[in-house]
Amino acid sequence: MSGPRPDTVSGLLAEIADIGRDPVRGGYSRPVLSGAELSLREWFVAHADKRGLEVTTDRNGVIWAWHAPDGSYADAVVTGSHLDSVPGGGAYDGPLGVASALVAFDRLAAAGVGGRPRAIAVFPEEEGSRFGVACLGSRLLTGAIDPARALALADPDGRTFAEALRAAGATPEHLGPDPEALGRIGAFVELHVEQGRGLIDLGQPVAVGSSILGHGRWRVTLSGAGNHAGTTLMSDRRDPMVAAGALVVGVRRLAREVPEARATVGRLVPTPGGTNVIASRVDLWLDVRHHDDATTLALVERIRQEAELAAAEEGCSAVMVEESFSATVDFDAGLRDELCEVLPGAPVLATGAGHDAGVLKAHVPTAMLFVRNPTGVSHAPDEAVEDADAEHGALALARTLEHLA
Ligand code: GLV
Ligand code: MN
Ligand code: MN
Repeated sequence: MSGPRPDTVSGLLAEIADIGRDPVRGGYSRPVLSGAELSLREWFVAHADKRGLEVTTDRNGVIWAWHAPDGSYADAVVTGSHLDSVPGGGAYDGPLGVASALVAFDRLAAAGVGGRPRAIAVFPEEEGSRFGVACLGSRLLTGAIDPARALALADPDGRTFAEALRAAGATPEHLGPDPEALGRIGAFVELHVEQGRGLIDLGQPVAVGSSILGHGRWRVTLSGAGNHAGTTLMSDRRDPMVAAGALVVGVRRLAREVPEARATVGRLVPTPGGTNVIASRVDLWLDVRHHDDATTLALVERIRQEAELAAAEEGCSAVMVEESFSATVDFDAGLRDELCEVLPGAPVLATGAGHDAGVLKAHVPTAMLFVRNPTGVSHAPDEAVEDADAEHGALALARTLEHLA
């Protein structure tokens, strides 16, 4: 049986198809600094080396692969994405942008395209799946998060980011804003699998991005009284799991009252978490998104009140803490229009998903390209990209980079 050619996007992705598969959840679990994510980083570095790119890993763990033959890194055209995944995610969210960047660079090299220096950047912890804050690498690079706060972030096993960095051989003390690395970027273009149905409905393989929906994450802690499932009368309980259940239903009700809002509880952790144990505490995480940031925050405030009501109803208490917030981002209009000229017929699409490009937008002209996903599903194993669309995406990226060069 012959697989895809090794010099294609699908050929590159086939090389990593077995890394980080999750036999329990299905799909891939590639948390930052896990064995799987570190293997993917090695895979990328090997490919960059093979192409003669100059590879460095900066103080925040962002890998840069440079084509800068004149030794100048100023005003560079940068593309890239991430290799970490959500738990049980698809094969394309992140790696598609990285593999497409390699193929696009191959095309530029074959065509002898010179001009501005160019680089591929691979950002760590884009999903925030392990340490809770999305786009952690780009936030650190740009100074959008205090490094002391980042180092103290803990994963579900209680291991801090500082400890995980040290275990991977990195130097946590070096973490923080990197104006020199950021200052080299003249323009940033991230290619990404589309995470919805826009391109299916339009019958097109590739779109130019217009905006990213504002989004944030909040942790709600519901505290009650741990006790025995068999000996505690139903009338004597203060059960935070019951409050959590009411809150989850309330989140959906309140979000449905706000046109265009999205609110999700995708993770809930009872403590201590035993079948015959009434929990003493439940932590749940809320993801809320809306294009109008004030509307997002107003909805979150209503959910906070709902949490307090649901908790009081059960004799419990509720505390809500913001873990991260990213305002709605409109990509650089000039760059977007240039991409539309380079890619005639490509539609312009907004996205409801977050990206490192959204963080970089506050500092450099930034654009995105989306590649059709025939299932319209993402953050789940069913995420998909047809081989031909992947090649179409890499070609669109190559044309874009060549134009910007
Ligand atoms: C990342 O993909 C997000 O939108 O949370
Ligand atoms: Mn992504
Ligand atoms: Mn994602």
